[in-house]
Amino acid sequence: AVPGEGSPYAKVMIIGEAPGYNEDLQGRPFVGPAGQLLDELLESIGIKRGGVFITNIVKCRPPNNRPPRVSERMACRPYLVRQMGLVRPKIVCPMGNTALKALVGGLPIGETHGKMIEKEGVAYLPLYHPAAALYDASLNSVLLMDFKALGLLLGSEA
Ligand code: URA
Repeated sequence: AVPGEGSPYAKVMIIGEAPGYNEDLQGRPFVGPAGQLLDELLESIGIKRGGVFITNIVKCRPPNNRPPRVSERMACRPYLVRQMGLVRPKIVCPMGNTALKALVGGLPIGETHGKMIEKEGVAYLPLYHPAAALYDASLNSVLLMDFKALGLLLGSEA
């Protein structure tokens, strides 16, 4: 299992879909190519990986990287809810459509990325999944802008 990792005091919780090959091997979230890009995006706004909390909707790697099933999402949900309740981040960032759908529902990531959504007392800032930018380089600049927005939101916190 890949439960997630990061600061228990994190102001930001980043939530992906499910562990992939590299994550499964290491037992850590976002350690492959998408994770490398995530680290760079965080650094672009002056945040170190260890300063946030990073996890996934589903805690085990689905076979052959297929999307997680609803039953798998439901099985992991109490764990995720408990993680969110313990860390109590100011901002939760679902990355990609699976995480967005599981946490917020509603419109797809293409229409909601970079915009704050409040649901049941939790502030969400949906982001494109960094893996998407590895396939479509035009999303790099979108991700950079959305992370900048995240940085500004955190800066206006204090
Ligand atoms: N993609 C995800 O959604 N999560 C990871 O941990 C790695 C890649």
